[in-house]
This record gives sequence, C-alpha cells and structure tokens, in this order.
Amino acid sequence: MKESVKEYYGKTLQGSADLKTDACATSTEIPDYVKQAIGQIHDEVVTRYYGCGLLAPDLLEGKRILDLGSGSGRDAYVLSKLVGEHGYVVGVDMTVEQLDVANRHIDYHTEKFGYAKPNVEFIKGYIEKLDELGLEDNSFDIIVSNCVINLSPDKEAVLSEAYRLLKPGGELYFSDVYSDRRVPQELVDDPVLYGECLSGALYWNDFHNLAKKVGFADPRLVEDRPLGIDNAAIEKKIGHISFFSATYRLFKLDQLEPACEDYGQAVIYKGTIAHNEKALLLDKHHWIETGRTFAVCGNTYNMLRETRFAPHFEFIGNWDNHFGIFEGCGTSLPYDAVALSATEEADGGCC
Ligand SMILES: C[S@@+](CC[C@H](N)C(=O)[O-])C[C@H]1O[C@@H](n2cnc3c(N)ncnc32)[C@H](O)[C@@H]1O
Repeated sequence: MKESVKEYYGKTLQGSADLKTDACATSTEIPDYVKQAIGQIHDEVVTRYYGCGLLAPDLLEGKRILDLGSGSGRDAYVLSKLVGEHGYVVGVDMTVEQLDVANRHIDYHTEKFGYAKPNVEFIKGYIEKLDELGLEDNSFDIIVSNCVINLSPDKEAVLSEAYRLLKPGGELYFSDVYSDRRVPQELVDDPVLYGECLSGALYWNDFHNLAKKVGFADPRLVEDRPLGIDNAAIEKKIGHISFFSATYRLFKLDQLEPACEDYGQAVIYKGTIAHNEKALLLDKHHWIETGRTFAVCGNTYNMLRETRFAPHFEFIGNWDNHFGIFEGCGTSLPYDAVALSATEEADGGCC
C-alpha cells in the first residue's frame, strides 16, 4: 500500500485539482494572520497541498515542530513563519516528488520571511519508522500532521513514535480522516479509495482507544466536518460509511486520567495569547472566555497548567477533594453528524 500511496502523491496527482473527493481538502475558516502566512507561500508548494485541516495551534513562537507527512511543505512553511526565526520545523515524507517540491523552495521562504538562515528542513522517511531518522526522544514541542496518518499501514507505530518524540507537556495537534464505523477490508484494499484518504481512515472509537493505548490518555477533538464525496462511483463503493475530517490535540502528560474527574477546580484565562484576546479555544468543548471563572475537570486543569498555556491562566483549586465524574468535556459521540444519526437511529427503534 505504501508504494501505491507514493505513486498516487508522486505521480498520479499533480495538484489538489486532481483529487476525486474533498477528503484531502481544507474548508476550515482560517484566521487572518494564518491567511497572511499562507499568502507568502510559493505557488508550486500551495498547488500540491492535500491537507484536510488547519494546523495552527496557538503559542508557536520559538517552538520546535515536527510535521509528519509534510508533502510539498505548505504547512511546514506556514509553521516556519509562525514559529519565527528562533523556532524550527522538521518535515518528514516518503515521496521523493513531494520532498523535491518542498526542498526547492527553502531559500525562497527564508528570504521571504526575512530570516538570516533557514529554520526548516525536510527529511525522507516513513512516519512509522521515525526511530530511523536520528530524532531524539522528548525533542519536539508540537507534532503536526495533515491528512496523512490515515494513509499509514501502522497507525499505532506512528502514534507511539510521536509520543516518544514529544517533550512532556507537548502535543500532537493533527487533522485527519475518520469513519463512523470500521471500513471493510475490500475497501481498504482499493488503491484509489485509500489514496484519497478514505478507506485507510480509522473508525473514530478505534482511534480514541489507540491514542490512549500509546499514552495519550485524553484525546481532545478541536473541530470536525463531514466529508462530501461528490463522486458517484466512490459514493457507491463506500455505501453507508460516513467519513469526517477532524482535528485532535493529544497532550503528552503523565498526569492525565482515563476519565474527566471533578476536583472542584477552575481556571481564569487572562486574554494574553495573541489573536485570542476575547477567548481561547482549547477544544470543541472548551471555549474559555477571558476573565470568566471557568470550571474544569482535572485533565483540562493539567492541560493548561502543565503546558505552554500555563502563564496565560490563573488556576483555582487543588487535588484535595474529589467530587466524582466531571460532566461537560464532551459526549461519547464525537462528531455532530455522528451524534445526530445515532439519535435518529435510536428514535427510529422506538417507533
Ligand atoms: C494527503 S497528502 C498530505 C500532504 C501534506 N500534509 C499536505 O497537507 O499537503 C499525504 C502525504 O503523506 C505522505 N505519506 C503517506 N504515507 C506516509 C508514510 N507512511 N510515511 C511518510 N510519508 C507518508 C505522502 O507522501 C503525501 O505526501
């Protein structure tokens, strides 16, 4: 399957216009400062962009970032701009043609961003075998990936390598495709469905369990959207399976518990993060307004207290008293459309 994916991204596709579905396309609303950064990226790099989400978490200045499956380098270059001259970005991809496009434009972007020397590099390699690339344990603040992990035949290896490479308190912040049920093997074996980032997708609950298994105890969904297939032949093949593009953030924190527990804690956001003066979106269920005393579970408390977000919050409470399960960190069904169809099915069963 790896060879067929290389063929698809190296030779079959010449640009995003060649895609048959919108699985590898981004429709998220993009903040102005990120739009400005994208506007500075070389046309050839942008033409061969096949991402499905937006990889611009907050507080990137000076950070060391790894991009898994960096492709032609669009996100890596945007991040190179956002981390600033003292940050650093490493992109890894297995497809020579994609790497060639990315490498061709290093000097262009260094000059465009006004840096004295490049702060980005691209390495040829497999994201399941990051141990072969000489990258040190605990060496990245943030790992990103855009519409790639679904293409990997060994997703557990990718996630556990990402866990190894992250610094404690770091995060894997990535966009990918998920399904609302397990995808049958005959569809997984279809090279076009696989190459289009559909049939390699994990069923969302298998993903949650895998993330927890490798150490990311509390995966947080940031945003999601149902994918439009808009291709009759592909729609017929996939039948009733629904696919979603979703962005998750997975913090590497020993302190996280398997469930959201209530210790009566709260946080107050100071409004001090650039571009987020009125509120900060931690994840889909945590839109934290500036100045408001915001009740949190123990895990959310730690995600803010033990990470780069800490200086921007006041922390209220301790671990002395436990009040049971914390309600409010999200439902057991992650995506709105999955939740809706499950409710409809349940309603149908009652009639
Ligand atoms: C859908 S494209 C996304 C590329 C890039 N992230 C972007 O947003 O434009 C998938 C990319 O992942 C790379 N890729 C897929 N499987 C890989 C693997 N196992 N190891 C390394 N790269 C891989 C492909 O070569 C391709 O460049």
